[in-house]
Amino acid sequence: MRSRPSTTIRNPYRDEFLAAMERLGRHDGARTEELYRRRSELIGRYAFAVPDDRAIGLLVRLAPIVEIGAGNGYWAWCLAQAGADVIALDKFSPDGALYDSAAPCGVENTWFDDEWRPVLRADETAAGAHPDRTLFLCWPDPRSYMAHTALAAYRAAGGRRLVYIGDPASSGDPRFHAALETLACVERFRIESWPCCDEWCAHYEI
Ligand SMILES: C[S@@+](CC[C@H](N)C(=O)[O-])C[C@H]1O[C@@H](n2cnc3c(N)ncnc32)[C@H](O)[C@@H]1O
Repeated sequence: MRSRPSTTIRNPYRDEFLAAMERLGRHDGARTEELYRRRSELIGRYAFAVPDDRAIGLLVRLAPIVEIGAGNGYWAWCLAQAGADVIALDKFSPDGALYDSAAPCGVENTWFDDEWRPVLRADETAAGAHPDRTLFLCWPDPRSYMAHTALAAYRAAGGRRLVYIGDPASSGDPRFHAALETLACVERFRIESWPCCDEWCAHYEI
């Protein structure tokens, strides 16, 4: 499949993110609170990370992709528009409930209401069925071993490439981050993000 430049895709999350930053991002106090409320609202509609051109371009270059914990499929929808072959998987279906940070980890997909692209039901071990694809993990849960187990299954099956996006302080479990230290980081860059996040996109070779 031939790739189109990611700038040509529809990406309403980025449009709304940039509008929110323009309106609220340069202020403190009440406006900052409003910005965080807006972030939660947009996460529910779209995704945790805002797809930006550089991250989309990297993933298109590294396609085909298998995405584990794909949420409502927003990233997969963007990547498919940009020409990438993506399999999007998540253990849970969007249930429309509100995110509860006190809920037990990994029991349900409480963040999202709907899907942008069909997301197939599969848990993290499904990464091991796709060693021929680049493994993509975007904001994996920090409270379960999902990211670590996905990477281990993928590695054991002979998978060679990982792209991880998230704020390391609040996504991915400690064993996953320890495993990343053992991999060769080819490229790592900050992606466009909310002021409260220290968000990175990193490409590793295994
Ligand atoms: C923080 S959300 C991130 C979703 C999406 N990647 C994004 O960036 O918006 C974590 C996702 O992992 C999924 N998840 C949790 N445990 C999982 C598991 N064991 N296997 C596969 N997906 C899982 C949840 O349903 C949820 O969609």
